[in-house]
Amino acid sequence: MSRIAYVNGRYLPRAHACVDIEDRGFQFADGVYEVCQVQDGLLVDEARHLARLQRSLSELKIRMPMPENALRIVLRETIARNRVRNGIVYLQVTRGSARRDFPFPDAAVAPTLVVTARSANPEAVEQLAEQGIAVVTVPDIRWGRVDIKSVGLLPNVLAKQAARDRGAREAWLVDGAGEITEGASSNAWIVAQDGTLITRKVDHHILRGVTRTTLLDAVSALGLTLTERGFTVEEAHAAREAFVTSASQTVMPVVKIDGQPVGTGSPGPLTRALRRDFHRFAQST
Ligand code: PDD
Repeated sequence: MSRIAYVNGRYLPRAHACVDIEDRGFQFADGVYEVCQVQDGLLVDEARHLARLQRSLSELKIRMPMPENALRIVLRETIARNRVRNGIVYLQVTRGSARRDFPFPDAAVAPTLVVTARSANPEAVEQLAEQGIAVVTVPDIRWGRVDIKSVGLLPNVLAKQAARDRGAREAWLVDGAGEITEGASSNAWIVAQDGTLITRKVDHHILRGVTRTTLLDAVSALGLTLTERGFTVEEAHAAREAFVTSASQTVMPVVKIDGQPVGTGSPGPLTRALRRDFHRFAQST
């Protein structure tokens, strides 16, 4: 847990950190967020996370709460005050606090900014990656603009809980055409029997994961074959390997889909290699 949180200009102990009850993030999920990995005290792919933040905000017409350089300082200060060497830094920006009413409030209302940071146990994550995780498929019931990293995550929460209830760590979301869009909090990838990597193309129906983008750089530099297209649940069941990507887990092998083993039932060699090499292609600052 974050012991110190940054809230609208102040660093506060967790127990005293709060936002107004009429904050639009609380009332309407009218806000966006980012999660950035911290590795050995450095932020991983910060520039890409901040670029996506800018885009999410601009799509929703929410002002940036402070200049980007100032935000970079707040992220580092929050990491330092929580003594995080390995873990994540979380930031959330909402449209601010105003009397509850659906249309945007007066332009003078300042956006809310909250930043927290917490440690992870790298050995535990590594152990999980050694074993690989199970996923289950569930219908994708989200709205039509999930490319915006909005805090409106109720369908993701329900999908993740459905996964936990079925003994899995992640849910893969299936659209009306029977294709997997992405995970509840990760992007989804498979390796087909011919060795081709497959992950869904980006549009309004998936989040452009920063880890996904960096892994695409790795895939291209390593000369691997890649197709960006949707894949069906049947293709996933028949895949040689599967994995998910996200800031907190980088490349995480998937060894079971809906109770059926993927390939040999152990993390595949290509997945392991991509996990091992990932940080060579990421930018740590
Ligand atoms: N989740 N797709 C969804 C729906 C996500 O929520 C996430 C990230 C990703 C992967 O994006 P990135 O590689 O930029 O982390 C894809 C974060 C980690 C979260 O909600 O905690």
